[in-house]
Amino acid sequence: MNTFDRIEAGDQEQVVFCQDRATGLRAVIAIHSTALGPSLGGTRFYPYASTDAAVADVLRLAEGMTYKAAVAGLDQGGGKAVIIGDPNVDRTEELMLAYGRFVDTLSGRYVTAEDVGTTQADMDLIAKVTPYVTGTSDGSGDPSAATALGLVWAMKALFFLSSGADDLGGAHVVVAGVGKVGSHLVGNLVNEGARVTIADVNDRAVERVRSQFGASVAVAAPADVHRVPGDIYSPCGLGGVLNTQTIPELRSWAVVGAANNQLASPECGLLLADAGILYAPDFVVNAGGIINIASERTPGGYDREHAYADVHRVYDTTLQVFDTAKRDGVTPAEAAESLARRRLATGVHQIRNFP
Ligand SMILES: NC(=O)c1ccc[n+]([C@@H]2O[C@H](COP(=O)([O-])OP(=O)(O)OC[C@H]3O[C@@H](n4cnc5c(N)ncnc54)[C@H](O)[C@@H]3O)[C@@H](O)[C@H]2O)c1
Repeated sequence: MNTFDRIEAGDQEQVVFCQDRATGLRAVIAIHSTALGPSLGGTRFYPYASTDAAVADVLRLAEGMTYKAAVAGLDQGGGKAVIIGDPNVDRTEELMLAYGRFVDTLSGRYVTAEDVGTTQADMDLIAKVTPYVTGTSDGSGDPSAATALGLVWAMKALFFLSSGADDLGGAHVVVAGVGKVGSHLVGNLVNEGARVTIADVNDRAVERVRSQFGASVAVAAPADVHRVPGDIYSPCGLGGVLNTQTIPELRSWAVVGAANNQLASPECGLLLADAGILYAPDFVVNAGGIINIASERTPGGYDREHAYADVHRVYDTTLQVFDTAKRDGVTPAEAAESLARRRLATGVHQIRNFP
């Protein structure tokens, strides 16, 4: 499929290619939907193998943001951006500013935030050239802690569904990827009295978590982590990790993770259901970060206490998704998408100015 066919098939409102000769910037911004409000989604900085791979990724991610905001009950649309390159090599202040100026040209139809490969410092920089940025240090900041909190609420919902009690004490959670979200998640789980096993392709990330939590955290090899017997498998690295090879090897009864697009294909949702594994859809359970960011737009401005209280909604949404799946005889992923589509079709678009 060529790039334009891919864009057309993806049902996007707008896709913008950004190129700046002076800084070497190459980026793509996808606005999937503004039906419920301005599109909001992070900027991923990643060394894609090709432009087409970057486009494929940004389209999927932007669509996921539309569903995520819709299911979370936010008056926001879905968008995402990717900068093509290695952030450790290619990131310069000038490049980030050039990118910010492209975001500004969209006049608020796309509002950016941090994602894999970008940081709060990058958002602060982008804020110098556009108001259409969230997660700055004088705003809601890094969303990762709120995302991790939402994951904990979703895990509690699954324990409630399976046993009637939502206590994570004594539960064994296997966290694959201990970057920004995964490391916060480990902290929360240890505080809840859960047993935790971690893995990461980056040894330094593992060491950071180990030095903080010591012996209460076990370590597995990244290639084997999905085979570790536990209660909940939590993919917090990149997407596509639930596939035809890994699903038959899973040894947990539930999956609740931060990574976007965990299912390698829609059929993998069925494979999980057939294996008796409760898959909590990624865009439902990783909404804590966007709920936190969205609260920057509330009339009184950002208030961490209120925002974190709102993240509790992930618990209720997770229960609603599994109820709907059971009632309609569909997978949780299908149920979550139909809840999102229903809101997109009927949801009131409250026009708000951003910022
Ligand atoms: N940051 C947020 O608030 C947020 C919100 C929603 C969704 N997400 C998604 O959650 C995921 C993690 O986000 P993050 O901000 O923590 O990113 P991050 O880059 O800080 O952390 C990801 C970690 O996963 C590791 N990793 C990558 N591939 C792996 C693999 N195959 N096995 C084990 N470890 C692997 C990386 O080395 C890194 O340490 C991403 O997919 C992101 O899109 C993040």
